[in-house]
Amino acid sequence: MLEVKNLKYSYNNEYKALKGVSLKVERGDMVALLGKNGAGKSTLFLHLNGIYEPDDGKVFIDGEELKYDKKSLLKFRQKVGIVFQNPDDQIFAPTVEEDVAFGPLNLGLSMEEVQDRVEEALQRVGMSGFEKTAPHHLSGGQKKRVSIAGILAMKPEIMVLDEPTAGLDPQGVTDLTRLLRELNSEGITIIISTHEVDLVPDYANKVFVLVDGELIGEGTPKEIFSQPDILEKANLKVPIVTDLFQQIESEGFDMQGDYPLTINEAKDKFLELINKN
Ligand SMILES: Nc1ncnc2c1ncn2[C@@H]1O[C@H](COP(=O)(O)OP(=O)(O)OP(=O)(O)O)[C@@H](O)[C@H]1O
Ligand SMILES: [Mg+2]
Repeated sequence: MLEVKNLKYSYNNEYKALKGVSLKVERGDMVALLGKNGAGKSTLFLHLNGIYEPDDGKVFIDGEELKYDKKSLLKFRQKVGIVFQNPDDQIFAPTVEEDVAFGPLNLGLSMEEVQDRVEEALQRVGMSGFEKTAPHHLSGGQKKRVSIAGILAMKPEIMVLDEPTAGLDPQGVTDLTRLLRELNSEGITIIISTHEVDLVPDYANKVFVLVDGELIGEGTPKEIFSQPDILEKANLKVPIVTDLFQQIESEGFDMQGDYPLTINEAKDKFLELINKN
């Protein structure tokens, strides 16, 4: 449903931030894009609904090529909503509710529908009660939640979130991960970038790895986290649970190449090892 073909982009003609990126995201996917600082994650995301126009290459949404005239952009941005890495780039209205209402109002919905959407979106990100608050009086994590609500209220088919858990407290990270899973099960395709590898196997069915503007890996979390060369090139670590079992193996327990990636898988593996010994 979303396809990027040979995308190239450079800032100020000097640095090649994207050097020919191609990828495909299917309807219902929950994708994690991994890569170190400066790899090009945000640059790639900003192409997904035409905020940036590539130097070369194309973006297709539902098989239709992304065009950059005002009318086409409006249409594509209803389908693909992007939550920026920095909420200050996104939030600008004088109050939280006006900010979240901005997108839906632009869709030409009735006042009643807009109000319902704003209320629901704020509730889902845990920000009910802040409707009248000025965004600059919010904490970093609260701003992040409001920026997510603003996109939620548009009800896009594809939600792209650039480091959505950055700056959230541990409960906030858990809540957001749960919300993303819920939205995904409601049929929304989700693409996020993140540095938090521990959580990736819990929600993502597909992982892309970006290094210096090039995709060097693509697969399930299990496939990606079992390729040391890719992880090394991308400065990535395996999830802490996987690390633990790799260390246990070096103590003489044979894992037969099957390392747990999540707490649940680890629990089962521990019970299996205990029963064996
Ligand atoms: N506005 C800009 N002007 C010039 N160069 C930029 C600009 N934004 C990003 N870059 C450069 O492009 C490259 C890719 O940056 P990008 O922000 O896409 O990386 P990222 O993977 O999102 O990193 P992070 O994990 O730090 O968010 C970097 O080398 C960066 O310095
Ligand atoms: Mg970024």
